[in-house]
Order: sequence, then structure tokens, then C-alpha cells
Amino acid sequence: MKPERCMIITIDGPSASGKSTLARELAKQSGISYLNTGATYRAAAIKAMREGIDLADESEARKVAKRLDIEFIPPTESNPERVLLDGEDITDEVLSPEVSRAASIFSRHRCVREKIVGLQRKIAKRIFKTQTELADEQELCGVVLEGRDTGTVVFPDADIKIFLTASAEERARRRLIDYNLPESELENLKAEIEARDRRDIERDVSPLVPAEDARLVNNSEMTIEETVQRVLELINSKT
Ligand code: DC
Repeated sequence: MKPERCMIITIDGPSASGKSTLARELAKQSGISYLNTGATYRAAAIKAMREGIDLADESEARKVAKRLDIEFIPPTESNPERVLLDGEDITDEVLSPEVSRAASIFSRHRCVREKIVGLQRKIAKRIFKTQTELADEQELCGVVLEGRDTGTVVFPDADIKIFLTASAEERARRRLIDYNLPESELENLKAEIEARDRRDIERDVSPLVPAEDARLVNNSEMTIEETVQRVLELINSKT
């Protein structure tokens, strides 16, 4: 029998708001696995970079988008998550700051987004099916998609939508720790984060906005565990 508490959850929000950490923690604490949609845009950007195209050129982007083959494999108890591009494992490469900058430019093309959204739906449905088959009848299970437009565009009918945010200052502090940088870099990082926010919010296609029915969670003054508990409360109140 299908478990009753299986759902599609979306978590959108600006960069460094803690979406990936939250999705990973939810996966550790429940039968809810995840798809990191940012990783799919990063994988696409790697293909474009390898082909040496001008990332901002729409017609070049269309040619690359047509041939995109991306897989996201969520972690299991024995294996970490993996990102595949044309069958090649690029999990470590997607994390570089250079790829991050390229993804920010390449993800603005409508043709790229349409292709990737199709891939994301296919991957998320497969993860959902696996989690449903693995779960006990009463268990909370399903898939979280985390990104910028997962509740507005990818799954507008998701069972629950979260918009996760934090102040630019706090997000810059988190990046400082992630990249092991000195305190003197804080203002630079904050400026970079604010510029990234503007690009995400102001782009024509799928801008970063909360879905009308999203629940807003500002975790500027919350620990990771408090954020996880808050989101689990929201999920449980829905079931
Ligand atoms: O979350 P991230 O930093 O890994 O995302 C990489 C880039 O992809 C970022 O510039 C925004 C873009 N992105 C997007 O446009 N839509 C998504 N759903 C996820 C990421």
C-alpha cells in the first residue's frame, strides 16, 4: 500500500540561505530525499564551458541545451550524492566558484531553463517513486526540490512550499566559513551575494520570487537544527 505521508516539497530561496543543508538534513531525519536543482544548472554550465561557447549567447546556448544529459543521484546510506554529465561523474567540479559564476549566466536563457526543468521533473519523479517504495506506511517520505523556481515553475502543485531566506550579512558569514576565508573578505562576499540576488530576482525567465502559497522561513538567527525542526513542523502540520 502507498504510504500516506509521501509528498513533493519545494524549497526556494537566495544563494547561501541554507537550502542544500536543510534538504540534506531532512533526508537524514526522514524518508524524504532530494534534488539539488542548482547542481543541474551547474552541470549545464560545465558543458557550455567545455564547449568553449560564449555563455551569454542565446543561439549557442540553444545548441548546448538540446544535447544536455544530466543525472542527479541522491545519497544512500553507503554513497554520497552524485552529479553526472553525459554519464561522467562531475560531482566535485560543480562546486567550484568558476562554475558557480558560469551557472549564474548560463541559467538565464529560456531554452536552457525549459530543457533543464524537464530533466528536473523526470529526476524528481524517479526519486519520489523510489522513496515511496522504500517507506513504511506511516513514514514521512517523498522528495524535496531545492532551488530558485521549484515551487513557482517546476512543481507549482507541490504539496508544501518553503521560501528560505536569511540576511545578506548572515549569508556572507556562512560563505566565509564554507570557503575558509579571513574576516576581511566579508564585505566583498556580501557585495557578491547581493549582486547574485539581483541577477536571480531581476531575470526575465523564472525570477526568484516566493510562490504565493509558500511559507516564509527566515533563518538569519536560527541554527541548522532549529531550521530543520521548523520545516518538519510545517510539513507535519500538512499531513
Ligand atoms: O543554488 P546554486 O548556487 O547551486 O545555483 C547555481 C546557479 O543556478 C545560480 O546562479 C542560480 C541558478 N539556479 C536557478 O536559476 N534556478 C534553480 N532552480 C536553481 C539554481
